[in-house]
Amino acid sequence: MSVSNHTTESVRERADIEEVVGDYVQLKKKGQNLWACCPFHNEKSPSFSVSPSKQIYKCFGCGKAGDSIQFVMDIEGIGFTEAIRHLAQKYGIEIEEEKNQSPEQIKALSEKERQYVILNYAKEHFSLNLETEEGRSIGLSYFRERGFNQQIISKFDLGYSIESWDHLLKAAKTAGFTPEELLKAGLVLERENQPGNYYDRFRGRVMFTVHNVGGKAIAFGARTLKKDKNQPKYINSPETEVYHKSDTLYGIFQAKQAIKAKDNCYLVEGYTDVLSLHLAGIENVVASSGTSLTESQIKLIKRFTDHVTVLYDGDAAGIKASLRGIDMLLEGGLHVKAVVFPDGEDPDSYAQKVGAEAFSEYLTTNTQDFIKFKIGLSLNEGKSDPIKKAETVRQIVQSIAKIPDPILRNFYVKEASLLMDLEEDLILIELNKASLKPKERNSTFPEERSPQFTEELLPVAPLDNRQSEQKQLMSQEREVLRLLINYGVEKIGEELHVCEYLIEETGELQFETPVFKNLFERYREALSKGIVPTAEYFLKTSDSELKKELIDMITQKYELSSLWESRHQIFTAREADNLAKTIYDSVLRLKKRVLKKMLHELLDKIKLSQDAEIADLQQVYMEIKRYQVEIDQQLGTVISH
Ligand code: UTP
Ligand code: MN
Repeated sequence: MSVSNHTTESVRERADIEEVVGDYVQLKKKGQNLWACCPFHNEKSPSFSVSPSKQIYKCFGCGKAGDSIQFVMDIEGIGFTEAIRHLAQKYGIEIEEEKNQSPEQIKALSEKERQYVILNYAKEHFSLNLETEEGRSIGLSYFRERGFNQQIISKFDLGYSIESWDHLLKAAKTAGFTPEELLKAGLVLERENQPGNYYDRFRGRVMFTVHNVGGKAIAFGARTLKKDKNQPKYINSPETEVYHKSDTLYGIFQAKQAIKAKDNCYLVEGYTDVLSLHLAGIENVVASSGTSLTESQIKLIKRFTDHVTVLYDGDAAGIKASLRGIDMLLEGGLHVKAVVFPDGEDPDSYAQKVGAEAFSEYLTTNTQDFIKFKIGLSLNEGKSDPIKKAETVRQIVQSIAKIPDPILRNFYVKEASLLMDLEEDLILIELNKASLKPKERNSTFPEERSPQFTEELLPVAPLDNRQSEQKQLMSQEREVLRLLINYGVEKIGEELHVCEYLIEETGELQFETPVFKNLFERYREALSKGIVPTAEYFLKTSDSELKKELIDMITQKYELSSLWESRHQIFTAREADNLAKTIYDSVLRLKKRVLKKMLHELLDKIKLSQDAEIADLQQVYMEIKRYQVEIDQQLGTVISH
């Protein structure tokens, strides 16, 4: 039901922006305004401002802005009416309900509200049961045994359900609730073939209250303490009007402030893991409760942080579950880390075993990003097997391909390249394959692994050093010009002069180094006037850099032929003897360097491109690669990187 305008106005008047925002973030005064790191996006320096005089907030980083009510809506992820209610509660303003709604609307809304009231009643009922004799001797003693103190018990509304068919049912009836309402709330069941005959769903079990993000009780988990194998260990509330398992994270209400403060959320499997972590002083933790993560659970986390650390059992099932979860989280745009526990331990058992301090320490030293986590898993299986390695790469690349943010994706490509000692471009090629045709690959050829794939990934080369590449390109430009200056007038074939060949072959390449580009242009210009210039022709220049280069080029020739030792003389003799090959090779080498640079520039472009453009760019990439192979063949060298 919506609230009256009067209530809304009272809330508007009372809800001071500084007070409201101050409940969630630490504000610091600077000038007229107050500042904080924005609670809606990740940042290191504050760009979130609050203006007490204008009663508004605005983030200069992400653009979120509004008044107190808007802030509560944004930060709690609730609607307008709910925000008004929230603030009315904070300021002790009486809530007047809006009258003019359709009877159906009023009924539907009030039914939902009624559910919250019933669930809250049940929660208190289960809590109070802990003080009965049965509750103390069975429920409370179990909690004590596990180290769950009074503080944890009340913080999480732990309780106990009496071993009886109707303990809750009777009490609730007396309190004015109908069995039908209790049925809808999932608290009682109707006997088969006996309509109107109800009995308690939870009997003789310790109770875990599930809260929604706002702190309302919406469901229960109940653990048996009996050894009876025929009884399920846990039974849980069914889906109800207010409880949607797939939208819920156990512990989110108790964790949200800590998640925001730590800018990280630990993700565990069950109730007991959450409680044990709180006991160990770690409050930024939620549980997915068995099922694999859903999109709405991920969105819920994203309201408070972009960072998740997955904590799962060290056994095979736990790891499998965490792998599925990791891909979901990546797809949701989260930064993902993982901690593996020793075999046979879950976060709960391990925390109980080693104690709070050692547990925190373990988390700090064993947190690894998901790539390291995945590599670690497959390395255990077969370290040196190249097929295994290719398979690992494929799996990691598939995870990376799920990351929507290109910058984050790029970060992980670098990380994977470093950790697996693979060239970035090899990973990128795989990445493009994975992101271009995910459907075809998965559905039509589930086990397909192209042979080309393994071949491409097996050569393991060190990372390129682009700076040294630039140097290599420069020295190859110098070499081509040295040959042009020294041998331009010589013939390499019946009619072909060195200068003609070199101008023809390198004309469209564009020299990059300014001094060489300049020299090459002047050379061409002279040639067009019918002069085949030598070094002397250019030496009159006032360009001292050019002069120095020219002198180097010609001394190299003379030195090579006359002054150097015999070893070099042999080389020189060859250079002059086999001038044609020297010239051809030098052009090929220059082209090779240029192509390599083009490839890298293209890769940079691919990394920043939209998916749609990537296919075209990849086409170009493959063409250049083919050309490169051709050149390598002509040079008679093995493919080198
Ligand atoms: P555990 O089997 O470890 O439960 O499952 P536990 O209560 O910690 O039992 P012990 O003391 O180790 O034997 C861990 C979590 O998995 C979920 C619960 O959330 C539990 O906290 N779970 C487990 C279920 O939801 N249903 C089940 O049947 C079992
Ligand atoms: Mn356990």
